[in-house]
Amino acid sequence: MSEPRQILVTSALPYANGSIHLGHMLEYIQTDMWVRFQKLRGNQCIYVCADDAHGSAIMLRAEKEGITPEQLIANVQAEHSSDFADFLVDFDNFHSTHSDENRELSELIYTRLRDAGHIATRSVTQYFDPEKGMFLADRFIKGTCPKCAAEDQYGDNCEKCGATYAPTELKNPKSAISGATPVLRDSQHFFFKLPDFQAMLQQWTRSGTLQEAVANKLAEWLDAGLQEWDISRDAPYFGFEIPGEPGKYFYVWLDAPIGYMASFKNLCARRPELDFDAFWNEGSKAELYHFIGKDIVNFHALFWPAMLEGAGLRKPTAVNVHGYLTVNGAKMSKSRGTFIKARTYLDHLQPEYLRYYYAAKLGRGVDDLDLNLEDFVQKVNSDLVGKVVNIASRCAGFIHKGNAGVMVAGDAAPELTEAFLAAAPLIAEAYESRDFGRAMREIMALADRANAWIADKAPWSLAKQEGKQEEVQAICAQGINLFRQLVIFLKPVLPLLAADAEAFLNVAPLTWNDHQSRLENHQLNPFKALMSRIEPAKIEAMIAASKEDLLAAETQAPVGNGELAKDPLSAEIEFDTFAAVDLRVALIVKAQAVPGADKLLQLTLDIGDEQRNVFSGIKSAYPDPSQLEGRLTMMVANLKPRKMRFGVSEGMVMAAGPGGEEIYLLSPDSGAKPGQRIK
Ligand code: MSP
Ligand code: ZN
Repeated sequence: MSEPRQILVTSALPYANGSIHLGHMLEYIQTDMWVRFQKLRGNQCIYVCADDAHGSAIMLRAEKEGITPEQLIANVQAEHSSDFADFLVDFDNFHSTHSDENRELSELIYTRLRDAGHIATRSVTQYFDPEKGMFLADRFIKGTCPKCAAEDQYGDNCEKCGATYAPTELKNPKSAISGATPVLRDSQHFFFKLPDFQAMLQQWTRSGTLQEAVANKLAEWLDAGLQEWDISRDAPYFGFEIPGEPGKYFYVWLDAPIGYMASFKNLCARRPELDFDAFWNEGSKAELYHFIGKDIVNFHALFWPAMLEGAGLRKPTAVNVHGYLTVNGAKMSKSRGTFIKARTYLDHLQPEYLRYYYAAKLGRGVDDLDLNLEDFVQKVNSDLVGKVVNIASRCAGFIHKGNAGVMVAGDAAPELTEAFLAAAPLIAEAYESRDFGRAMREIMALADRANAWIADKAPWSLAKQEGKQEEVQAICAQGINLFRQLVIFLKPVLPLLAADAEAFLNVAPLTWNDHQSRLENHQLNPFKALMSRIEPAKIEAMIAASKEDLLAAETQAPVGNGELAKDPLSAEIEFDTFAAVDLRVALIVKAQAVPGADKLLQLTLDIGDEQRNVFSGIKSAYPDPSQLEGRLTMMVANLKPRKMRFGVSEGMVMAAGPGGEEIYLLSPDSGAKPGQRIK
């Protein structure tokens, strides 16, 4: 055996201002499977991550919710951690970029870069919101497109005509935060001198550290010549102040990748056998891998290696880039219910179904991956339940009935034993190179052979014949041995199935090399069903719940939903637009919970000449809905009816507050009559 490798692995740090969805999970599941494979092989492999907690989006969202950024990021970290744990993503550490370790390391790297002459300063002119007292990033400015005159366009590009421009070219610019007209203002900014690292990057990006498609893409940037990178933001900002520069903060993307080091450093304090410097100093023998999505390549394959080099630290061994998740062939869509949060999935389905499906479809390239929900059901049911688990369930009963659960010795199918042994290095090589799809195809081909062999031997018919008991036992023991090998090969993908199988097999946790041995004269534990089929109804329920998430978010506006919501309050509208809204006084005749919906109440509203059925996401504030009955409120009466899982919603009631328990239904003064128009 060669020396065990020392490997440090990261996934991108999720933003602390939104929920984890199935697109994110593609990355975390992919990384986790690779890490579990390394651990199974006996390598020292450490997997760290953290929440990416800084930036103005987080500051503004906290403000909107009436909490401190620290509270917001603590809440989100708890939510993220449980989502990851329940998807069996097994981080060695999940930390935060808003941590002491990250502050120290960010200051250290910055001062090293500064002292080596890699930091420049110069004045930058930018839009400033005079009401809010802050500089506005492009996405916080909107106005009329200078090209096509489309209104309400954000920042630096027009969604209507596709034009790109400087925010200063927008006509009639407004702050998306306060609605104020922004003014131009100068401020001193700090820049990282990326061009100092041009030659190093040209070489590094072509040295086997990147997939070819990624290296080609970067070559376009490198050939065009690198620009200095603006790494400072002015107060107010949620982040770390730049040492010696009061009122100036590190831009979130400066300290975010340093968060990888910070998370590892935090772990080192708990795990004395880990030596921080041995992993990070120039010339380190340890391997370092970052798994990321294709949207953040420049940060990881240009800025980050340059920062490390400039600070005298080691660079990544490789940056592994994956494509984007689509669902049913299209971008995830809230209205189609295919914008599926991790938690919504977990409320309906087992994590290992998705882990297997992603594994089956992941290659080593940067192509997008489609979660086709029909194919998902079909593939999981046929491969995992129909092929793998089936082997054990076909054989276990005969061993328990015919031989008191003891597997007999002997190899009943040497050619199969041989084939499984021969496939192992190929499967390992596929895992190692992140070609999970190829690994799964190899494994399923073995499962097919095992099933075909058992079907051919048909122990179920032999068992009915006189004098065939020995043969039945030999076949079934062989079947269980093949099953055990498949479980080892699948363990990085299906850790729970593996744990359940280990309990049934009555063995210690299996490692990769255990595939070379077999169980003989071995007592099994009783067999329990290891995995059940996916019922298509569960998929429908998950889609419906995802639509409900959207509705709950909408009916609680202006609660943020992960992205910074386009604040409808700050945009001016024409009088006609306002006049088109039919606002009415409504009497709540009936209010009840909706079975199967966590957030919704069903309201029956009397608006004088008719009754309306309205679903509203206010349940968390009114746990006893009957208290609402008999009360007057206000409703939008001409909202287009919306079909939901529970029925059609015919309007919307009006409420204030940040959400959760703090939702305040609006009411008119006493004397108002149901049906009266509000003007
Ligand atoms: N905070 C930054 C990363 C900082 S790393 C030092 C960020 N966060 S993110 O939450 O937007 O994304 C986290 C990871 O999830 C990224 O690698 C991103 O590419 C990936 N994905 C986000 N949406 C995705 C899909 N729809 N599909 C696949 N991966 C996706 O970027
Ligand atoms: Zn335009």
